Amino acid sequence: MYRTHTCNELRLSDIDKTVTLAGWVAVSRDLGGLTFVDLRDRYGITQLVFDMDDNAELCTRARSLGREFVIQATGEVRERASKNPNRDTGDIEIRVTEFKVLNTAKTPPFTIQDETDGGDDLRMKYRYLDLRRNAVQKNLVFRSNLAIETRKYLAGEGFLEVETPNLIKSTPEGARDFVVPSRMNKGQFYALPQSPQTFKQILMVAGFDKYFQIVKCFRDEDLRADRQPEFTQIDCEMSFVHQEDILRTFEGLTKHLFRTTFGIELPEFPRMTYDEAMRRFGSDKPDLRFGMEFADLSDVAKGKGFPVFDSAEAVLGICAPGCAEYSRKQIDELTEWVKRPQIGAKGLVYVKYEADGSVKSSVDKFYSADDLKGWLDRCGAQPGDMLLLLCGDDEKTRKQLSELRLEMGARLGLRKPGDFKPLWVVDFPLLEWDEEEGRFFAMHHPFTSPKPADIPKMESDDRATLKGIRADAYDLVLNGVEIGGGSIRIHDRDLQSRNFRLLGFTPEEAEAQFGFLLGAFEYGAPPHGGIAFGFDRLCAVMNGANSIRDFIAFPKNNQGRDMMIDAPDAIKLKQLEELGIRVVVS
Ligand code: AMO
Repeated sequence: MYRTHTCNELRLSDIDKTVTLAGWVAVSRDLGGLTFVDLRDRYGITQLVFDMDDNAELCTRARSLGREFVIQATGEVRERASKNPNRDTGDIEIRVTEFKVLNTAKTPPFTIQDETDGGDDLRMKYRYLDLRRNAVQKNLVFRSNLAIETRKYLAGEGFLEVETPNLIKSTPEGARDFVVPSRMNKGQFYALPQSPQTFKQILMVAGFDKYFQIVKCFRDEDLRADRQPEFTQIDCEMSFVHQEDILRTFEGLTKHLFRTTFGIELPEFPRMTYDEAMRRFGSDKPDLRFGMEFADLSDVAKGKGFPVFDSAEAVLGICAPGCAEYSRKQIDELTEWVKRPQIGAKGLVYVKYEADGSVKSSVDKFYSADDLKGWLDRCGAQPGDMLLLLCGDDEKTRKQLSELRLEMGARLGLRKPGDFKPLWVVDFPLLEWDEEEGRFFAMHHPFTSPKPADIPKMESDDRATLKGIRADAYDLVLNGVEIGGGSIRIHDRDLQSRNFRLLGFTPEEAEAQFGFLLGAFEYGAPPHGGIAFGFDRLCAVMNGANSIRDFIAFPKNNQGRDMMIDAPDAIKLKQLEELGIRVVVS
């Protein structure tokens, strides 16, 4: 037997037992007569002690143990003279009577501790060492628990776990596909699934009724902290359901996950339409941990001779609580912040509601104190607060002010990590106009059903009418992050064809791309709908982390590279020839 206990198991009640532990040397301290070794495994750390007086030969050998050596040690459990209250095993130590080096280790290129000195790329290259760090390991333990609890809940609700293929067909909608050349069908390519969307709908046609899968998805898109080229979804589909059934089931799943992992009982999730979210927060994924709602000041701010506002479509503001004390320098810095290309505002107007009730602003020249007081009232400002105003094109200004709201929320410490504010955003528009391409795209995906009342609008040629079609589509938002999205699907072939037409597909293109689905709809497709949660994102947001990378065992870096295995990489000419591919390097 390699070990009798793990490195986080022994307590005072085990005193005098003879035990054997195995693990990695985390730290070793030589104090002359005594040598202490912290032995680590995935469960924790136990202190080993080697005493010169007990066994000089053993103690001398212990002194030569290097960091990350793998050892097996046998000894007696003793009460520690100086206890370590920060460690589960901090009351005891093992007086070692015998030990064996199972493997030596080179000196690691960074320290394997919670606060490490390794940079991102170095830690990714030596991911197996990074994964030994408690901070990373506990994230993967959390992820594993969350997956197990997801399966338990969905199985309890009667869902079947069905696997769908990874080598599928490229589709023009959504992000770019990763493609895989076919050796047996030269010149042809599979695509890796961006999601199992069409397959889960086919499973509904097949009668499976309640499907789920914890599944890898692949999207060749620009990477960000919350996006990886391969990521995991909790993907689900249900038959004979309305939107309400799906929201109830997946609100239930989310509550179950919070209850079983954190012991937190989440109250009923509020709901907000897409239009309301855009009006109040300028975002379809508002962070509800704090207020700072938008106030539309267009009607009172325009027409008073301030040219910047007069020429703007919209003048919008937020009230930053307690910020009237901001210095000139702080305001200048905030102005530079909104003018960065990532935000793109032209400038920032402020109105300070001083603690003594007086008003001071960057536009005093154009507005009376009464005018400005009116703005403050509309924004619900109290003495000590400051209004921040942006103006311009309505849609763009809402986006910019939403970024500023989040930034102010963060600066003021209002986005607290342990505070969880879920929200269902419902009634998304069906279509989204793309100025560059000059055509509509599906806001969710092409299989999403319009609201029955809006179906007649699909016949219109008017862009504004088409933009106004609402869909039975919904997102789950948690603390300002889109955790999941789904919709009730179209299950009628004619309606699906009409939707493809609106998205600019000719009937031939629709048939070539999705003929299998349209065909399946002719064989008794039940009404159905579903949702997919971003599993990596859920893990990160539940733990107050910004980056999903910390919750993925082997993530890619910002250039989409796996630094450990050095992928992507060139392949041999012979492999290319077998695939019938000729590469022209430009
Ligand atoms: P959608 O495209 O909204 O819907 O994706 C669902 C959820 O997946 C997560 N997600 C990502 N996570 C990490 N990296 C990425 N690159 C990435 N892209 C998406 C998000 C998102 O909310 N088939 C539909 C679902 C349905 O209609 O049932 C779909 O894939 O958290």
